[in-house]
Amino acid sequence: MVKVKSVYVCNNCGNDSPKWLGKCPVCGEWNTYVEEIISKEKPSARSGLQVFETSKAKPLLLKDVQTGEEPRIDLHDGELNRVLGGGLVPGSLVLIGGEPGIGKSTLILQTVLGLNNIKTLYISGEESARQLKLRADRINSNSENCFIVCETNLEQVFVHIQNLKPEFVIIDSIQTIFTDTVESSPGSVSQVRECSAAILKFAKETNTPVILIGHINKEGSIAGPKVLEHIVDTVLQFEGDQHYMYRILRSIKNRFGSTAELGIYEMRQNGLREVSNPSELLLTQNHEGLSGVSIAAAIEGVRPFLIETQALVSTAAYGTPQRSATGFDLRRMNMLLAVLEKRAGFKLIQKDVFLNIAGGLKVNDPAMDLAVISAVLSSSLDIPIEKHVCVTGEVGLSGEIRPVNRIEQRVLEAEKLGFSKILIPQNNLKGFTSNVNIEIVPVRKVEEAFRQLFG
Ligand code: TYD
Ligand code: MG
Repeated sequence: MVKVKSVYVCNNCGNDSPKWLGKCPVCGEWNTYVEEIISKEKPSARSGLQVFETSKAKPLLLKDVQTGEEPRIDLHDGELNRVLGGGLVPGSLVLIGGEPGIGKSTLILQTVLGLNNIKTLYISGEESARQLKLRADRINSNSENCFIVCETNLEQVFVHIQNLKPEFVIIDSIQTIFTDTVESSPGSVSQVRECSAAILKFAKETNTPVILIGHINKEGSIAGPKVLEHIVDTVLQFEGDQHYMYRILRSIKNRFGSTAELGIYEMRQNGLREVSNPSELLLTQNHEGLSGVSIAAAIEGVRPFLIETQALVSTAAYGTPQRSATGFDLRRMNMLLAVLEKRAGFKLIQKDVFLNIAGGLKVNDPAMDLAVISAVLSSSLDIPIEKHVCVTGEVGLSGEIRPVNRIEQRVLEAEKLGFSKILIPQNNLKGFTSNVNIEIVPVRKVEEAFRQLFG
């Protein structure tokens, strides 16, 4: 007889316990246990000896393991290819997470419709075939090789896969899929864990790439257990503000490439469009004569781009001044403001400071520092920074400007976009070999940078 029992499962790490716990003893998270009904057939007791006999794989010396360049499937989407590390690896399991309505289904449907020579099966647990067709019409693209099935039962999904033998499988979304072997509702920890483990096994055994679309919960992480993120090879996050047109595809985990990559898209009436030159898009505003605007030569992933940093400094209306940053780490901004006060003698203590990075982008590059403090200062002094000047550099606690990585790429990008002057850290000047048609001003300290910018 199948034994029915209920267990409590940690939402974060997947650990289970017979009774509810406030704090997970494994991962230390609080209030993560949820009740789940499971029915488990006891695995037949196998003696250790049998396991020995059935084990087929032999240990190999690591140096003898054969490797080659991983072959990659070109997805005909420059941004997606790059974020995946140069295309999709056969047999890999990719998870794409993001807020509802951000465009996950659109991105994936658009990609598979562009792959005419690859037989694809799109398993939709959320939308009907008609809805998908309407969306495909909207994107204005059609493929001879894209099959659609609306199915949420994992066992049925595998039947379809067996019949069709697709070369590429999409599951939209993993939280709607359920397996008969687990009795809890779809989307619960054990369902997500069991289903994704079965899909992983399928992907690895048949060398078929699978993309899972995942919901995210209200805290912004992918719904379901953290183990889901551990199971898959690649985790991509599709983010952006519903009110902005831009969408950013970030790689959070990638077994086959760098996680520093970033893809930028624009949501149009007829689907998503790749933005292959983000600088042009992030610099469209004409800010000549406006104070509080500074252009940073930043790098995200391997791509340099120039991005507008805006600051507003005003006298605080209430006792405690407000500090707020959009797209930039608030703690880092507070540190930079402290450096400004201490090293450059600017009194910001009674001022509200607001910072905004253009286009709704979040940038983590430390080379943004110099742009942030120059924007703050420009607003505080009400002196605009010249239009064709951009800056790059990390600012240290004593007000020194520290070198940044890949300076040549930053300078070349600035030159390409028609900037006439760039402030760079003095220490970056060594080893700078490129012959460029842009004035390079090395600076050592924030004071020097201010003298350059504001005379
Ligand atoms: P969708 O892909 O359904 O989001 P998700 O799968 O992440 O929930 O995206 C739907 C949103 O995208 C919807 O608000 C409408 C918008 N959209 C466009 O602006 N243009 C388009 O061509 C399409 C297909 C959708
Ligand atoms: Mg969707």
